[in-house]
Amino acid sequence: MNIQENAPLSALTTFGLGGAARFLIEAQQVSELLQALTFAKEKNLKTLVLGGGSNLLVGANGFDGLVIKIDIGGIVREGELLVAGAGESWDALVARAVEEGLWGIENLSGIPGTVGAAPVQNIGAYGAEVKDTLAWVEAFDTQSGTLVRLKNSECNFGYRTSRFKQETGRFVIVRAAFQLQKDGTPNASYKDLADAVRLNLTEVRDKVLAIRAGKFPDLQKEGTAGSFFLNPVVSAEKAAELIARYPQLPHFPAEGGIKVSLAWLLDKVLHIKGMSVGGARLFENQPLVVVAAHGSTSEEVRELVQKVSALAKKELGITLEPEVKIIN
Ligand code: EPU
Repeated sequence: MNIQENAPLSALTTFGLGGAARFLIEAQQVSELLQALTFAKEKNLKTLVLGGGSNLLVGANGFDGLVIKIDIGGIVREGELLVAGAGESWDALVARAVEEGLWGIENLSGIPGTVGAAPVQNIGAYGAEVKDTLAWVEAFDTQSGTLVRLKNSECNFGYRTSRFKQETGRFVIVRAAFQLQKDGTPNASYKDLADAVRLNLTEVRDKVLAIRAGKFPDLQKEGTAGSFFLNPVVSAEKAAELIARYPQLPHFPAEGGIKVSLAWLLDKVLHIKGMSVGGARLFENQPLVVVAAHGSTSEEVRELVQKVSALAKKELGITLEPEVKIIN
């Protein structure tokens, strides 16, 4: 087991920002994950489990503990089930499903991150979410000290949330299985994909990738973690008030209330696309997305986010919740 000390986390996150981890272990097998957890216990270290680092903002102080990067690979097909190691790239799994003619996750094409991270925040796009196809996850349960298999119904999935987020630190996902379909049809329920009804599987994937290319910055050029905020889920009364003021506001029924489009509010009401603090700004094509230009700092991202949150509170009476996990 290779233990790195003082490892820069900027290299392991798509924001490309922040300080170092006191220790870093890259676990390619479950046995290495167990060794890493033992090491943390012996040294009394906090742990942070990392996938693709695509939903994380690391502060200048980094992480004063052990970061365990999950690199467990492998994709195996069992009938219409695809089983993947947690460290596989999520999009490699989607590409494989499409190659195999298996429907179900094609609308989730092009999302950065790993298979193991996907169930944690129940990733979603274009009318599909991980919870729609996930059969089970295999995870190390640090409470019982055993590997457990959790069925979909045991994962407590919701909008960008799951049991893995709620019971912080308890489970480390090592594999996940997706129940796909040989004879599927396009899921064209989302507005942007409405004309996808007649497309074949590869064409749906290509269409999603093309839409995303227009809405997200090029990760090679600038740092980002996708949507920085959740779309707010507000009470029926609050939604009615907002819709009366802004009749065009896109809104959808959601668990616990009405989900309103924050991108729309930031763009059409607050007019703050492109708003910046230092090298951090709200992306011109999608203001939910915060981008960090080369040379910017996590502090600038944080200040920008605070400014946006304060404006949303003052002008709209809405409390924003970050979607991105913030460390230090
Ligand atoms: N809009 C504007 N101006 C803009 C962009 C969008 O007014 O500049 C309005 C449009 O009316 C549009 C609406 O906002 O119809 C919604 O925009 P979009 O389709 O981009 O979706 P979103 O609600 O802003 C969510 C997810 C994304 C996911 C897309 C597509 C969250 C936090 N974000 O964004 O997920 O890709 O839907 O399904 O739910 C992520 O979680 O990191 C993420 C990128």
